[in-house]
Amino acid sequence: MQTGLLHLHSFVAYILLAVLVIAIVVNALAGFQGKPYGETNRKLSLYGLIATHLQVLIGLILYFVSPKGMSALSGEAMKVSGIRFYVLEHPLMMILAAILITIGYSKSKKANESKRKFNSMLVYYVIGLIFILSRLPWDAWLG
Ligand code: HEM
Ligand code: HEM
Repeated sequence: MQTGLLHLHSFVAYILLAVLVIAIVVNALAGFQGKPYGETNRKLSLYGLIATHLQVLIGLILYFVSPKGMSALSGEAMKVSGIRFYVLEHPLMMILAAILITIGYSKSKKANESKRKFNSMLVYYVIGLIFILSRLPWDAWLG
C-alpha cells in the first residue's frame, strides 16, 4: 500500500504544480488587464484548491504508512537533515501552503469586486506555491 500511495503522491504533485501555475498565470494576466473575475477564473482557483487538498490528504495518509514518516520521528531524527526533512519540514511547509491557498480561495470567494477577487487569490496562491517549491524532495521525486 505504501508503494501505491507514494506513486499517487508523486503523480498528484505534477498535477498540482501544473494546475497552480496555470491558475496563477491566467488569473494574473486577467487581473493585470483589469478584466472582470469570470467563471474561468473561479474554476481555476477551485481546481487549485481541490488539487492541494487532495495532495495534503494523500500526504497525511502516507505519513502514517511510510518508514520515512511518523515511524522515523524521534529526537535523534531532528539532528539528521535527510530524516528531519520528511518527518517535519516537508509535511509542515505543505500544510502551511495548503492553509494559505485555502485562505486565498475563501477570501477571493467572499470578495465582491473583481480586483479584490484576483488580488486575494494571487497573493495567497503565490506564497503557497513558493512554500511548496521550497520543500519538495526534488532529487527523490525527479532523480
Ligand atoms: C485533509 C483533509 C481536508 C481538509 C482539512 C480540508 C479543508 C477544507 C476547508 C477548510 C475548506 C473551506 C474553504 C472555504 O472557505 O471555502 C475546504 C473546501 C473544499 N475542499 Fe477541502 N479539505 C480536505 C480535503 C479535501 C479533499 C480530499 C478534497 C477533494 C479532492 C477537497 C475539496 C474541497 C472543495 C471542493 C472545497 C469547496 C470549495 C468551495 O467552497 O466551493 N478537500 N476544504
Ligand atoms: C502540497 C502538498 C504536497 C506536495 C506537493 C508533496 C510532494 C511530495 C513529493 C513530490 C514527494 C516525493 C515522492 C517520490 O519520492 O517520488 C513526497 C514525499 C513524501 N511526502 Fe509529500 N507532498 C505534499 C504534502 C505532504 C504532506 C501534508 C505530508 C504529511 C503529512 C507528506 C508526506 C510525505 C512523505 C512521508 C513522503 C516520503 C514518502 C516515502 O518516500 O516513503 N507530503 N511529497
